[in-house]
Amino acid sequence: MLRVVVMVSGGGTNLQAIFDAVKDGRITNAQVVGVISNKKDAYALTRAEQAGIKTACVSPKDYAERAQFNEVLLAAVDSFAPDLVVLAGFLVILPELLIRSYKNRMINIHPSLIPSFCGKGFYGLKVHKEVLSRGCKVTGATVHFVDEGCDSGPILLQKAVEVVQGDTPEVLQRRVMEQAEWQILPRAIDLIANGKVEVKDGFAQILEKALV
Ligand code: GRF
Repeated sequence: MLRVVVMVSGGGTNLQAIFDAVKDGRITNAQVVGVISNKKDAYALTRAEQAGIKTACVSPKDYAERAQFNEVLLAAVDSFAPDLVVLAGFLVILPELLIRSYKNRMINIHPSLIPSFCGKGFYGLKVHKEVLSRGCKVTGATVHFVDEGCDSGPILLQKAVEVVQGDTPEVLQRRVMEQAEWQILPRAIDLIANGKVEVKDGFAQILEKALV
């Protein structure tokens, strides 16, 4: 059983998609052992409690020094002894040590087709606003492994979503979540849990049998 820790900052709809996928068998060989938030009032924490999953909250606001926060955050992650860390809308700059400790064992969901509309400052509605203001006809979501850069690690899965004339950022965000994020994030966890992913030379490969 792959031990999964999910890190969140907000509503936790991606977290919910993971719970649902575990329940209905789209994710096998994995269990969510903990949910960590940087925000005490994140609704994602309520979702986790309702699902009977252990939670922890580590907020940078509670520490005078960033180094202290980093230390406590890493300890919180380690305390769950995870095999995989999933960033599902975690809006905090990660300590380098955490990234290094979980190299090739940490994934992130980003609401665009990387390398478009990603990097510093591209999060939440901003991504979708920029997609619309560029007049894109297609957008989507990406699951990638986390490295020291911003949205720069090996890409594991991507799914395209159509932009519809008249979309607002909110409408587009919802469609990207429904049609892409909530599907590829659980799929990525299932692939990893079943030994179907290899990260080599900066590329994530899905082992052939999983593709058929
Ligand atoms: C999602 O759009 C995700 O792609 C991004 O943050 C948002 C999180 O939403 N990284 P939720 O908390 O899962 O509802």
